[in-house]
Amino acid sequence: MAVTNAMAGEAREFPFSDRNFEQLRQIAFEHTGIVLGENKRQMMYGRLARRIRQLGLSGFDDYCARLEADLDSEIGELVNAITTNLTSFFRENHHFEHLAGTALPEILAHNAGARRLRIWSAGCSTGEEPYSIAMTLAESTRLNGWDARILATDIDTSVVARADSGVYPLDRVKGMDPQRVRRWFEKGVGENAGKLRANRSLRDLIAFRSLNLLGDWPMRGPFDIIFCRNVVIYFDKETQRRLFERYADMLAPHGYLYIGHSETLFKICDRFKPVGGTIYRKA
Ligand SMILES: C[S@@+](CC[C@H](N)C(=O)[O-])C[C@H]1O[C@@H](n2cnc3c(N)ncnc32)[C@H](O)[C@@H]1O
Repeated sequence: MAVTNAMAGEAREFPFSDRNFEQLRQIAFEHTGIVLGENKRQMMYGRLARRIRQLGLSGFDDYCARLEADLDSEIGELVNAITTNLTSFFRENHHFEHLAGTALPEILAHNAGARRLRIWSAGCSTGEEPYSIAMTLAESTRLNGWDARILATDIDTSVVARADSGVYPLDRVKGMDPQRVRRWFEKGVGENAGKLRANRSLRDLIAFRSLNLLGDWPMRGPFDIIFCRNVVIYFDKETQRRLFERYADMLAPHGYLYIGHSETLFKICDRFKPVGGTIYRKA
């Protein structure tokens, strides 16, 4: 039965009180760092109404009671429902141009002894970012014989699973150079027919893991480069400050950090110096 939300004047299947919204956004913030403003109320309703239906619950009160009783078993689903996973191949392409033209040559010269390169795509969503990094690396013949690895992580387990499969609908590669698509993707077969799959050589470069950036990091590092783009935009300043401090600890001396187009380290973290548009180097 549809009920009307007095504030929005919209017909809704389940009542969604201010108390429900407050409780859910508080849990989301504590667990993920994501700040869900008033403008996210409708988004939260839509995504969690689906989950409530799936669980066969009577509504948001019921769902909140379930979270209170057993947060651990539901928090993953709640997180998966509230994350924003927008991404694309070679998004903010100047980062990949900088990677190929400046960062890689410098790091290759610097690490020539160990011949080891480590890159972290933090908040990788469905994988377009780490596969774009992988293509950039694989197109550099100078990396032949190197131990080059990309770690790609996200808190949302459903996007990590999709990224790990490397399977994409055709429209995801629309903006890409067709030659690149032919070189690095193969036609999906069986259940992936009509789709593309990143080829084995790209997939072998990347390890996908689910990881909450606010929690413990099991990897030791150091990383030569960290991509953390369009992730901290959803965090408050204090969470951003703590995260960038940890990135500075995790980066090799002079390592590079790429952040999203609307993000900045200005007045947040002084352990990096800007070297280009949303490109930073560990100071
Ligand atoms: C908008 S996507 C950005 C994807 C990609 N980096 C890009 O720029 O195209 C943001 C991603 O950050 C992830 N994220 C949000 N909070 C996180 C957290 N606390 N730990 C790890 N990942 C998080 C989300 O699940 C989402 O997939």
